[in-house]
Amino acid sequence: MNLLVVGGGGREHALCWKLAQSPRLTRLVAAPGNPGIARHAACVAVSVDDHDGVVRLAERERADLVVIGPEVPLVAGLADRLRDKGFAVFGPGAPAAALEGSKAFAKDLMARAGIPTARYATFTDPGAARTFARELGAPVVVKADGLAAGKGAIVCATLAEAEAAIARCLERREFGAAGATIVVEEFLRGEEASFFAVSNGGACVALGAAQDHKTVFDGDRGPNTGGMGAFTPVASLDAAMHARIMRTIVEPTFAAIAREGAPYRGVLYAGLMLTAEGPKVIEYNVRFGDPECQALVATLEGDLLLLLDAAARGAPLPAPAPTKRAAVCVVVASGGYPGRHPTGAPIDGIDEAERMPGVVVFHAGTAMRDGRLVTAGGRVLGVTATAESVPAAIEHVYAAASRIRFDGMHYRRDIGRRQAARGVVPPGGHQ
Ligand code: AMP
Ligand code: GLY
Repeated sequence: MNLLVVGGGGREHALCWKLAQSPRLTRLVAAPGNPGIARHAACVAVSVDDHDGVVRLAERERADLVVIGPEVPLVAGLADRLRDKGFAVFGPGAPAAALEGSKAFAKDLMARAGIPTARYATFTDPGAARTFARELGAPVVVKADGLAAGKGAIVCATLAEAEAAIARCLERREFGAAGATIVVEEFLRGEEASFFAVSNGGACVALGAAQDHKTVFDGDRGPNTGGMGAFTPVASLDAAMHARIMRTIVEPTFAAIAREGAPYRGVLYAGLMLTAEGPKVIEYNVRFGDPECQALVATLEGDLLLLLDAAARGAPLPAPAPTKRAAVCVVVASGGYPGRHPTGAPIDGIDEAERMPGVVVFHAGTAMRDGRLVTAGGRVLGVTATAESVPAAIEHVYAAASRIRFDGMHYRRDIGRRQAARGVVPPGGHQ
């Protein structure tokens, strides 16, 4: 099978690493890929935003399957373009990708389908938005409707902060068109989890759950990032909770989006809050999480290519083999990230790190310059360890991360530790 993977971050490196292990694979091409992906795939310098270029590449490579990693091309309709040309594509078309591309669309769909989520209303008028925020009371959450690179959700501890957030979106237009409509919603309390399920447009299967660490510093302090680390499985998500999430959230979401005339062929990432009243949706994403994907994929048993291919074709989905492993991914970032940060720093120690048991280092923001691996982004590497439990994976992942060296590097020291402190997760506890 000839496979084209679209994207070039840590998520796509993890996908390529796993897909490259499939006995069904003939040739793996990535657009644009990265130096880590180049270990498994032929990387072609085509941007994920260059839809014509991706279609031409799929044609040239006679791709039997195209897997689209990031949300921006999905929301912009790349899957539709490829399907129109006859390609099998893993990733929803634009109408279904609106689950991530428009928070107002997602909230309205949840309301119509009775899917549990925070109380909300949608606004373009700042006065009306302020009135509703006062009605909900603080804390309250203000969200830009459109894609805002993970920065569009503003959690406001006070009503004054909510007023400021509303002004930033609707009056100062800090998020441009993405913030011209906002959702104002109730603040949910509980533990967060990222839940992943694959659909073929009809049936669906759960892949598992992971927990992300969004802030830059230990103890959930500092500004939000794209994600500084993740672990799987999530202890609080036992078999009963897992079944409840499938029944009350995942299955009704796929059914509702199919009723909109937009059957979903790809992975759905439900960002959940496990509240005292049960699991509720914080947001949908129409792709794998980054860095959750790195942890999740590292634990998956069986042939991921078969699952993604079946989903893309609308064929019966092979049940993912239950995993007995846990994994922890620690993101090693450039100095200054998530603010301004330098690039071009030489990176050392990856080979040493990968000599630790069960460790693989996924590349996110790296580049080759004059034959030398250098930093090329904020999130640089995703050091990932699998083991029989989260505490054991934590040991290995930090031993490995300590081998990595580049100027200004930093990483959180507490990925997975809060759960580890609460007790050891039984293997496969999330299945
Ligand atoms: P989002 O971009 O929608 O995932 O939001 C980013 C982060 O903001 C989430 O991971 C949560 O930590 C937080 N958040 C978003 N919405 C809510 C909510 N309704 N209640 C509590 N926290 C929220
Ligand atoms: N790790 C969060 C995300 O991928 O959106």
